[in-house]
Amino acid sequence: MRKQLICANWKMNHTLQDGIEFFEKIKSSDIENSKADAIVFPSFTLIQPLAKLAAEVGITIGGQNINENENGAFTGEISASMLTSCGASSVIIGHSERRDIYGESDDLISKKIIAALKSNLKVILCVGEHIETREDSKTADFVRDQLTICLAPISDKTMENITIAYEPIWAIGTGLASSKEDAEEIMAFIRNWLADRFNADIAEKTRILYGGSVKPGNMAGYAEMENIDGALVGGASLDAESFLGIINAID
Ligand code: PGA
Repeated sequence: MRKQLICANWKMNHTLQDGIEFFEKIKSSDIENSKADAIVFPSFTLIQPLAKLAAEVGITIGGQNINENENGAFTGEISASMLTSCGASSVIIGHSERRDIYGESDDLISKKIIAALKSNLKVILCVGEHIETREDSKTADFVRDQLTICLAPISDKTMENITIAYEPIWAIGTGLASSKEDAEEIMAFIRNWLADRFNADIAEKTRILYGGSVKPGNMAGYAEMENIDGALVGGASLDAESFLGIINAID
């Protein structure tokens, strides 16, 4: 049985003070009895100061990106070992904003996954299609190609450290969430792909998250679907009450 996982992707939002207030609010709630695991992905600068506060409420902290190299002359970049040394235990790789705004390719993403795993970071690998691809009925092919390249170097053993987030790009930050049935269809396709590429056991154990305009009001619908194991949440994760509303929607 896969436990649901809620990931809060804060993107480039929240100062240190905002982050501390967020966790103070969470602390005064009853999150510890939650049926879901939770990870918050703040900006790099907040990882160390928030890791301890998060641990007190059973939440772990992750980074939103890493560089594929271990170290060196890469001004402005952050390595996987830098994240672990500050208390991060996971990292988002291949978010559509990294792909679309910063030109990250599937090949680069696969290198970043290797770098993350080498430093013992768990990986949330994002895949998902633009609206044109969906309108052409090519979503499954598109996502399969992304997975094939991004996970090319991954062995059965290392796959246990990877979670897949299916995020249709047209649903991110738009309020136009995918219907739970449409999301389930492609996420079942992803699980079948995992069974073919790895094996049935890995397909059964791997968590697949939905992302794109998830809110307290629509989370329960996603969580009841067979192949949806949680959510990657942007906007609605910034406010503690709303984040808790999403977690508490799971029973
Ligand atoms: P959203 O973002 O929840 O604001 O749509 C999701 C994401 O980008 O991961």
